[in-house]
Amino acid sequence: MLTPLCDIPADQPIQSVIVLYGRASEMSAIEGLVAQAMIGNGAALVLHGDAGMGKSALLDHAADLAGAGSGALVLRATGVESEGDLAFAALHQLLHPVTSLLGELPEPQRDALSAALGLLAGSPGDRFLLAAGVLSLLAEAAAPGGLVCLVDDFQWVDRASADALRFAARRLGTERVAVLLAVRGDAAPAKGLPELRVGALDDAAAAELLASELGQTPEASAGRDAGEVAVRRELVRLTGGIRWRCARACGR
Ligand SMILES: Nc1ncnc2c1ncn2[C@@H]1O[C@H](COP(=O)(O)OP(=O)(O)O)[C@@H](O)[C@H]1O
Ligand SMILES: [Mg+2]
Repeated sequence: MLTPLCDIPADQPIQSVIVLYGRASEMSAIEGLVAQAMIGNGAALVLHGDAGMGKSALLDHAADLAGAGSGALVLRATGVESEGDLAFAALHQLLHPVTSLLGELPEPQRDALSAALGLLAGSPGDRFLLAAGVLSLLAEAAAPGGLVCLVDDFQWVDRASADALRFAARRLGTERVAVLLAVRGDAAPAKGLPELRVGALDDAAAAELLASELGQTPEASAGRDAGEVAVRRELVRLTGGIRWRCARACGR
């Protein structure tokens, strides 16, 4: 007879502070991106993959990395489906903490960006000035200790913000700025930005994740009977090792 797959009480919430299983190559790519940006090789990377693959968790890793190691400023925004038609909503969220630096920008860029962010009456006007203003503001914000910009659920970012962010991300040059975008879906709307696909976990990492969901060490499955091992393997296969699918499959 099989022992219960979940040893954790159903009312216990899933932990919000997590250890990432696997993902060594993805974390190393992110670490490289941030490290390079901190020495003046600004760059951008687009993470793309299905829901639940761990894109947001990887952005959290980048934020931890920037905060702990480099002391860089972290700016974050998340695309929201209901704000997809609201021009500049995502830029407003991302740049809100650094609007005090707008005064450092060349006047035409400052006026365009200030209008987009609702700080100046009138329309932002020229899209080029607006996008150039975003790049200039990111550069200003990076001046003291570097900057890491994280935009999650980029597929839902309003078009005006997305265009300006992509423009800036393609021109980081020698700025101490890393831009990391996470997009749901198999085909990333990269438009000239480097991409990294976040696929399913490998078998070993998926097994570790599943064991942690079940409140066990991976070694604990060693003594199980063949039927139970087969059920566990099937569970990992069906869920792709994706944490929330594992949790749901366990009835949590
Ligand atoms: N490699 C991993 N190790 C442990 N937990 C993970 C891993 N990848 C994702 N998770 C967890 O799975 C859930 C879904 O991940 P999330 O980052 O929100 O996916 P996405 O943003 O791609 O939709 C979160 O609870 C996350 O912490
Ligand atoms: Mg996500």
